Amino acid sequence: MFIALCGDKGSPGVTTTAVALASAWARQAIAVEANPGGGDLAIRIHPGGSALPETPTVLSVATAARAEREQDPVATHAHALNSTTAVVPGAVLAEQMANIGDLSPLTDALMRCASPVFVDVGHLHSSSPMLGVAARADLVIAVGRPDTSSVIRLRERLIRVAPDLAHLRGAAPRLLPLLVTTSRHGAPDVADLRGILAETPVKPFVVDCGFLAHDPSGVRRLEAGDEPGGRLSRTDLLRTARAVTSRIESLAGSSATAPKSSMVGGHR
Ligand SMILES: Nc1ncnc2c1ncn2[C@@H]1O[C@H](COP(=O)(O)OP(=O)(O)OP(=O)(O)O)[C@@H](O)[C@H]1O
Ligand SMILES: [Mg+2]
Repeated sequence: MFIALCGDKGSPGVTTTAVALASAWARQAIAVEANPGGGDLAIRIHPGGSALPETPTVLSVATAARAEREQDPVATHAHALNSTTAVVPGAVLAEQMANIGDLSPLTDALMRCASPVFVDVGHLHSSSPMLGVAARADLVIAVGRPDTSSVIRLRERLIRVAPDLAHLRGAAPRLLPLLVTTSRHGAPDVADLRGILAETPVKPFVVDCGFLAHDPSGVRRLEAGDEPGGRLSRTDLLRTARAVTSRIESLAGSSATAPKSSMVGGHR
């Protein structure tokens, strides 16, 4: 399964959400940072207190995919974060990411990875080089915050990007807007978002809306490589991430594109 995650200006939490969802997945999963603006995962993650080595990165995956010399280049070039989660950090600079050039081999590698991949494609817009990559994803998670400007930007972004994704995909994209908000406000924030999107042309593409808890201490545990089955599992971050991954699993294989009435998010 290939899940693309995107955001917009204001750093809503795309990278963190990708890692949280991969960690909440019940089995082995991989978070890939493929943000064309450059990555910061390699600097943030420090499993067991140690910084990640500088390589491999998504550039290693792209190179191996182009050479067609490995069965599963994504899994081969991932770092372990905890016992069930691996991460492929992005290159630090946008210039390095631009060196990938043709993104088709990388896209193919993401699609054939044996584990589910949660791929951070950065700010997705009509001229983003990652648009064609996101178009191949089973699901596109658009991450935003609940403040008015972020929600408006999320709405406008989806209105512009959905037709482009549909065109490149040759089929309707499946969108799941996700708000990073407090657990306490998750349900009303999601209800507001759902109401706003229901009045837009993207309504048919929105398979659900959800939220992930804003939980700084959960993020600290996640980035330190805590086991998802340990104390990390009891954080708001992982609890709400598990609700999202359960919803993703239930959506998998479904061809329905109509909005669902249920809400993705943790119990409060
Ligand atoms: N669920 C969360 N709970 C608490 N803090 C979070 C959460 N998600 C993200 N953050 C914090 O918000 C900041 C931005 O997050 P992140 O880097 O994931 O955003 P981004 O959208 O990937 O940004 P960029 O566009 O710069 O790549 C970071 O400091 C991160 O720790
Ligand atoms: Mg990021």
